[in-house]
Amino acid sequence: MEIKLRIHTWPEKILRTKCKDVKEVDDNIRNFLDQMYRLMRVADGIGLAANQAGLDLNLIVVQHQDQVYKLINPKIIKRKGKITFLEGCLSFPALEIEVKRANKVRVAALNEKREAVDIEAEGILAVVLQHEIDHISGIVFIDRIPFWKRIKIKSQLKKIKKQTHDKVQKIKTDE
Ligand code: CO
Repeated sequence: MEIKLRIHTWPEKILRTKCKDVKEVDDNIRNFLDQMYRLMRVADGIGLAANQAGLDLNLIVVQHQDQVYKLINPKIIKRKGKITFLEGCLSFPALEIEVKRANKVRVAALNEKREAVDIEAEGILAVVLQHEIDHISGIVFIDRIPFWKRIKIKSQLKKIKKQTHDKVQKIKTDE
């Protein structure tokens, strides 16, 4: 099954969806993960969550150095320490904000072969995993910053909102 996926941007509703757990790891799911990975690479990102691609499923893909993670039903089972990192998000074009998160996490998930995997991550990999797992819980990175910081990016958010609106209108007209 080939579904044309696209990156959904803020404030499209699917970004607020708490995604469903995957019940069966089959070719369909593997195909989605491959498509998500391609979409992420084309967009020059280092992580992508399924709902960003328009899919209501607990799937994320992450690229860290030479390692590619295609994770099914990922959950954070341990957090430690603090880190502040300048983050971007494919659903918020051109916006970069400093977000405070745990410096170390342990993530439990399934891989494409339906095997249980346990990932211990630190630094940027820990940040990306937390960012993507937030996505499939319906949480975006602007939810993680204090109110006064959100006021400072108000005009940027307004611009993204306008771009998203225009893009969605165009898709509707083309259909
Ligand atoms: Co993101």
